[in-house]
This record gives sequence, structure tokens and C-alpha cells, in this order.
Amino acid sequence: MPSLPSPAYAAITALGVHRPKTAVANHQLPRHLDTDDLWIRTRTGIQSRRLASADETIAIMGSSAAGRALVAAGLPPSRIDAVIVATMSHTGQTPSVAVELAARIGCRRIPAFDVSAACAGFSYILELARCLIASHAARHVLLIGAERMTDIVDPRDRTTAVIFADGAGAAIVSRADRPGIFPAEWGSDGTLRDLLAQQPSWARFRDDVEKQPPYLRMSGQSLFRWALASLPPVADAALHRAALRAGELGAFIPHQANARITEALARALALEPYVTIADDIATQGNTSAASIPLAMHALLSARRAEPGAPALLLGFGGGVTFSAQVARLPAAY
Ligand code: ACO
Repeated sequence: MPSLPSPAYAAITALGVHRPKTAVANHQLPRHLDTDDLWIRTRTGIQSRRLASADETIAIMGSSAAGRALVAAGLPPSRIDAVIVATMSHTGQTPSVAVELAARIGCRRIPAFDVSAACAGFSYILELARCLIASHAARHVLLIGAERMTDIVDPRDRTTAVIFADGAGAAIVSRADRPGIFPAEWGSDGTLRDLLAQQPSWARFRDDVEKQPPYLRMSGQSLFRWALASLPPVADAALHRAALRAGELGAFIPHQANARITEALARALALEPYVTIADDIATQGNTSAASIPLAMHALLSARRAEPGAPALLLGFGGGVTFSAQVARLPAAY
């Protein structure tokens, strides 16, 4: 029997981002939300957020980020073997946003598909890309986390409207000489699916259009408690899979859900003071599946983290879903 080839290594080689043009500070939020800057900053760490204009669709923001990642990598679209998009806010359902995005950037005749894993989405598709490369099914995979959360958030609901935002981040994952992405610790718990969910369903709305359209509803406190109780062991397991100790990390890049969750997780993991902690939420808001590549790009652009340094990525969100892995930071962005 022919022997199987040994698994190939994968690495993130390049990043590209699209941050919407419009920045909205806390004091610029609509008056009807009945909120204030101090409440938002102390509860969430958000000072301002980026919100998409009408012409910044998910496919347009995603292809803008993807185009920049391809340029940074020095790769033509023809070398990409698969396009995978993580999104929870694509309202079209069918076709996927990935097929439009792939066509926009000139990727033809290759697999293109969306993954729905809420705010763990980017970390999920990073694991998929690693597996495609390890199995020799692909050499270069284009990943995009892209969200227009403003399309699915109720503009009158202050518990979500002040938190969620829009944007896109893309990464090229390619075959490498040494491990650049380590196996993920990932999973889900559907018994907690109501903690962050669109309600009512599209089917209920179709049957009764007098109803509110489906909007994201969040049980903030329950999610907060779940995150702090459940995620530290997930992060520890990801470190174990990379055979690294927390002290060897260069950066910690969790999903940018809330600054207080980030700080509590960093304490639980006993991160050393020299480990850079992503804080993109302050000026970007919570962009769900786009938040990890956006935050990674921000750290590299500000020279707060070094290319090649191992970073712990931790995605978590609605479902509930979670995924953590160690990845070396790319040199091109
Ligand atoms: N402005 C002013 N007041 C507000 C606002 C607001 N934007 N939102 C809620 N309040 C009020 C509430 O009405 C409540 O008032 P009451 O005491 O009179 O009833 C009070 O503030 C406290 O509300 P809580 O919900 O208890 O506030 P909490 O301190 O828990 O903070 C928050 C809310 C920020 C949502 C917090 O629970 C949280 O961060 N949870 C985690 C959620 C999260 O991270 N979600 C994202 C993960 S999943 C994903 O990213 C897709």
C-alpha cells in the first residue's frame, strides 16, 4: 500500500484589513439609545467604533481586505486554492458571500464557502485552513472574517447597538517549512444557543411580517460568566497543543468582545507583563468574526508585536462556540 505523505506545515503569511471609513465615538451615538460614554467605556472598553456605509457591503469590505492581503503576500489570485469566509451577519443566506468575494478578487473555479461560527469564526476557519494544508489538499488558502453587524443589530437596543460594529480582516495561509499554526482546541455547546441569537427566525418573520425582523439578542451577563468559566481551560489546551508555556507568548489576541473579558482572561492565564494584549475593541468595537485579524493587524502595524512571535488566538461567541490556537505572526501586512 502506498504510504501517506507526512502532514505539511501551515503558516499565516500575510494580512489585509478593511476598516470602515466612518468612526462613531460614544458621545456621537443616537440620543434615543439613552446611553453615555462613561457607561460604555467602563463596561466594555469601547471609546469609538467603525460603522459601514451603505456601499461597504460584506463582500466589498471582505474583498478590499483580501486584495490587500494578496498584495502583501505577493501572490496572484490564481495561486489561491480555496476561499473561506467566516461571517454571522451575511443576510443573503444563499448564495454564500464567499462566492461573490472570490469573483470580485479574481479567484475562479476554486472552492469558496462561508462558515457560521459567530465570533469564533476566524479561529474556526484558521483551523480548517491548517487542515487543508496539512492534508496536501491546498497550498494557499485565503481566509476572510467579514461582518456588517449593524445589519443584524436592533438600532434601538442599547445593550447590543453600542457594542457591535463592522469591518473585515483577511489572512493568507500557506504551506511552510516549519509549524506556523498549531492545532486548535475548538468546540461548541448548543445547549447555550439562546445566549446570543437572532430572534425571531426568518421563517417566523416571513409568516408574520408585522413582527420585528430578526435581530441579535444577547444575554450579556450569562455570556460574560460563561466566557470566564469556560475559556481559560480552552486557552491552556491550545498552549499545550503548541507545546508552549504562556510565558513564551509574544501576544494574546482574543476575540474583541469586551475589554473586561480580555483583562479577566489575561489574569486567569497568568500572562507575563511583556505579553502584548490586543485592545482593538477600544476604537473598532466588536466585529465578531473579523475581530481577530483586525486586532492582529493593529498590533503589527503599531509595532507592538513582532512578526514570527507566537500569538495565542482565542475566538468565542454565539452558539456557544469557541476555538483557540497558537499562530506565529506574519511578516507581511
Ligand atoms: N447604556 C447605559 N445603560 C445600559 C446600557 C447602555 N448601553 N446597556 C444596558 N444598560 C443598563 C441596563 O439596562 C441595566 O440597567 P438596570 O440596572 O436599571 O436594569 C444596567 O445597565 C446593567 O445592565 P447589565 O446587563 O447588568 O450590565 P453589565 O454590567 O452586565 O454589562 C455587558 C453589560 C457590557 C453587555 C456585559 O454583560 C458584557 O460585556 N457581557 C459579555 C457580552 C459579550 O461579550 N458579548 C459578546 C460575546 S459574543 C460575540 O461577540 C458575538
